[in-house]
Amino acid sequence: MTGRPELLEIDGDVLRRSLDREPFRIRHRLSGHPLFAVERLLRLCRDLPEECVEYNAGDVAVGQDAALTPRTGLSAEETVRRIAEQQSWMVLKYVERDPEYRALLHACLDEVRRHSEAVAPGMDRREGFVFLSSPGSVTPFHMDPELNFLLQVAGKKRMRLFDNADRGIVSEAELDRFHADHPHRNLPFREEFDARARVHDLAPGDGVHVPVTTPHWVEVGDEVSVSFSITFRSDVSERRAGVHAWNAALRRRGWRPRAVGASPRLDDAKYLAWRARRRLVGMLRRG
Ligand SMILES: [Fe+2]
Repeated sequence: MTGRPELLEIDGDVLRRSLDREPFRIRHRLSGHPLFAVERLLRLCRDLPEECVEYNAGDVAVGQDAALTPRTGLSAEETVRRIAEQQSWMVLKYVERDPEYRALLHACLDEVRRHSEAVAPGMDRREGFVFLSSPGSVTPFHMDPELNFLLQVAGKKRMRLFDNADRGIVSEAELDRFHADHPHRNLPFREEFDARARVHDLAPGDGVHVPVTTPHWVEVGDEVSVSFSITFRSDVSERRAGVHAWNAALRRRGWRPRAVGASPRLDDAKYLAWRARRRLVGMLRRG
């Protein structure tokens, strides 16, 4: 022990049992951290390249069509300043580009890694996201490609998380396409899905693990919400993504590939083929 207080409180047994399988709760000590103060977030917003700052109106539908997402007419900086009164939703992406956020992200993920390597070795591509949302705003139904721990820093959030193995919500073909083409994260939503949701109410100090491609949608409570998402990939998640991408290529040629996980040996062969193809494409591009 170094004497420095831990940033996260993780039950190692729970993590080893559930990581990348099902959501579970953790606690953290980031509420009140100076990196999440408005003035510091404004500086981050100015320093990040434009493509790392995404924002739009916060009063959107759960099943929002990404192409029709309404804008607010505000600049990114105005959005941060006026987040309390202007219905907005904002994400600052890849905050590890800033050395201070990078240090915090790595400190948090080093604590995760102490437990995760035993069940999901190869922690890689550490990426951090800061979400800033107005009271009452909605994040539409979507899924993400990373292993994620969503840490609630300020305000309250209600997250509805769905089983990522439920092919009645996201089909195998949609999953294949998601990993191959990286389409917009939003997913088609039907009201009846909500009966299958696991609801997680998060207050400052709470965190929840969101496994790869877990469909979810989020509602913010009565105050401004600030959340920090600490994400990474593992050897297994990268391999699975590669097999899905290979299957997507087979589908484009009119095949009906076996689902990922149905045949581990076939998955191995597909992953090797996908990696070889990726390497070849990389060499051709460089050439
Ligand atoms: Fe998400």
